[in-house]
Amino acid sequence: MHGSTVKLSKLKKNQKFLYLAPMMKKTDRHFRYLARLISPNIRLFTEMLPAEMLVRDNRARALAFSEPEKPLAIQLGGCKPNILAAAAGYSALWGYDEVNLNCGCPSPQVIEGGFGAQLMKDTELAATCVSAMRDACPERTIISVKVRLGVDELYSYDYFRNFVKKMLEAGASRIHVHARKALVKLNPKANRMVPPINYQWVYKLKEELPDICITINGEISSLGPTLEHLEYVDGIMIGRHAYARPLELIEFDRAISQGPFVPNKASGEILEEYLIYAKEQVNHGASSRKTLQPLLNLFHGYKNAKVWRRSLSEQMRQGTIDIKEVLLISNKVQII
Ligand SMILES: Cc1cc2nc3c(=O)[nH]c(=O)nc-3n(C[C@H](O)[C@H](O)[C@H](O)COP(=O)(O)O)c2cc1C
Repeated sequence: MHGSTVKLSKLKKNQKFLYLAPMMKKTDRHFRYLARLISPNIRLFTEMLPAEMLVRDNRARALAFSEPEKPLAIQLGGCKPNILAAAAGYSALWGYDEVNLNCGCPSPQVIEGGFGAQLMKDTELAATCVSAMRDACPERTIISVKVRLGVDELYSYDYFRNFVKKMLEAGASRIHVHARKALVKLNPKANRMVPPINYQWVYKLKEELPDICITINGEISSLGPTLEHLEYVDGIMIGRHAYARPLELIEFDRAISQGPFVPNKASGEILEEYLIYAKEQVNHGASSRKTLQPLLNLFHGYKNAKVWRRSLSEQMRQGTIDIKEVLLISNKVQII
């Protein structure tokens, strides 16, 4: 087992982080590329990738990303230490900056497989998995865990704190907390809404573990609460809101980054840069539907956003990308 102190001393005291939450079928490389164009400082996350798949076949395709996506975290799903170790090792080799273990997914297949939120029921196994991942990666790779506050009847602050402490002792140095418990009898969608949010436990955890980087996740959709969270924890992680209104990421980025001021890119500029990327991806065999998909919500809240979505959906069916045509459609969209 690793002591947690070595990594922790490197944490800059006042550094704050903005993370994109891992989301299956949403945070693929194309959405991440778009998010990077909008937010220079966001730390991007893959969707959960089954460790078993990464050690079998198709690894290159699943692990592929574009260099600008960095800093980039990969989330692994699994519960077999040797398989997770191999998958973590490949991820580090591929250039991922952070390798994360999913301890929060409550979907029936995942629970049946014994991983995701199920791992929160078996602290020892989860710790062995983290330790194996740590051992398989070089020192520079951050090992992190995404947790809930508990699962089913295992829901007390002491249980939660103990689980996190064991992950740290096993070699994790960053903890992302979806601030509600998981209830395995509920479906994944309900599990993101029904169990009540409890940010206080996350604040308390940070108070007890001041040297550990802890980010908070769950229903963050505006700047006011974000700034409040940052009084207590090291960062925020945004999921659904980031996907639904990607252009707003720039505001969150501004609030969090303390780097040099970077002027906002205009939405037209972002679109143009993204289309060049998308065209290149399609030329290399990617589907036009998948590459254009992240743009559907780009103009959320703008006048004519519906026309945009409809026209873009037509383009998505065509199998090629006509950049001029997409830009023409975008001209019909205006800020209200
Ligand atoms: C469509 C969708 C897919 C998700 N997939 C994952 C996943 O692969 N791994 C994970 O840890 N969480 C997953 N989540 C949960 C999010 O990472 C996040 O914890 C949750 O949505 C709460 O954050 P939010 O309120 O900002 O959306 C998913 C959420 C959604 C909406």
